[in-house]
Amino acid sequence: MSEPSRTATTSRRRPVQPGKLPGRQDWSTWPNYQAAAAGFRGYWYPVCYSSAITGKPTQVTMLGEKIVLIRDNGTVYGLKDRCPHRGVPLSEGNQQFPGTISCPYHGWTFDLGTGELKAAITDGPESPICGKVTQPTYPVAERLGMVWVFIGDGEEAPPIDQHLPEELAGNAAVAGSRIQRRVGNWRFACENGYDEGHAKYLHRTSLWRLFKAMPVWNKTRIERRGRWIYRVQLEQHWEADFPGLGPWSNQAWFKLKPPKKVGNIGNTGSHREVDPVIAEQNFPGFASVAMPGILRIVYPTFIHYEFYAPIDAENHLYVGIMVEFRRGLKVLPFYLKYLGFVRWLFHGQFSAQDKWMVEVTDAPPERLYRPDDSLLQWRKLAEEISEERAARLRESGVG
Ligand code: FES
Ligand SMILES: [Fe+2]
Repeated sequence: MSEPSRTATTSRRRPVQPGKLPGRQDWSTWPNYQAAAAGFRGYWYPVCYSSAITGKPTQVTMLGEKIVLIRDNGTVYGLKDRCPHRGVPLSEGNQQFPGTISCPYHGWTFDLGTGELKAAITDGPESPICGKVTQPTYPVAERLGMVWVFIGDGEEAPPIDQHLPEELAGNAAVAGSRIQRRVGNWRFACENGYDEGHAKYLHRTSLWRLFKAMPVWNKTRIERRGRWIYRVQLEQHWEADFPGLGPWSNQAWFKLKPPKKVGNIGNTGSHREVDPVIAEQNFPGFASVAMPGILRIVYPTFIHYEFYAPIDAENHLYVGIMVEFRRGLKVLPFYLKYLGFVRWLFHGQFSAQDKWMVEVTDAPPERLYRPDDSLLQWRKLAEEISEERAARLRESGVG
């Protein structure tokens, strides 16, 4: 229908049309996912580098909860960062006795392991409040040079290796990483990471892809295996002719020629021999995602992971980790490569394009297109797995 033209005689303001936006107006198809703006509970989350946590208390925020972390005798402990007396952050305090933390205000002193109130210094050694107050504590672990905190609803924390990608648990690996606080909801970050369509277009200008063309479009199937869903590439099209517009491709004379076969390792196809540990995993596709927002991108010689840890509903921690399965002296070339360029090009400029999109995404409403099956399947996975957890908690009477 064509717009009625405005003339002097019809200058009366037309009532605002309510409009009919196409597409999805909300995420109510996935109620748990919709409700998880500040993250899913029941998981281990990376919160900072291990080196950041010393004997000086430090506050971190995860899933909207303020947590004080402190290292005592080599071990990192986590407690709720709010003194139950008058609500002062324990992270403003310090350590007066080994194995404890003292609030800066009146000296309430908590056991780091159990959270028990061991002393209220300003009420003397016989203070009757002792034994009556227990501060909530968090399970804490260290892996890949980072501190991880389990945020649940009182259930037993599973071993952290059960939540990390399986191939990291049993193999010697060397890692380079970047942790960055970013603006935007963690779900936008995770959806961006797993989004089938964006890399070929958004990242085609990145320096990381300077010598490698990206396909114009793919046909993809999503396959679930265990707790992961994989994007399996069925067709890759390196050039295309758009009706009425003409040909389009992002190939150039200085880029490597695209491979002839459809590849499922790396998004530009594989040019290199595949590392044996990676080959052994038999990943059906190069991009996979698992709860609670772990992305895995497999290349022939390394794997890149992204963890999107929700700080709160508006901010998340982007944790990018590049891993090669090597040990001994062979780790040296890895560090040269990582610090020399991967950190700047991949975890830097390339990833900054994602950061930019996550900051400006505003959905729902949204009108999804064919490649967004990746998003739909991720939301479905999140929904199913969170339902399973809710059932488990109900059965065990927790939460
Ligand atoms: S507020 Fe913490 S001891 Fe008083
Ligand atoms: Fe991206």
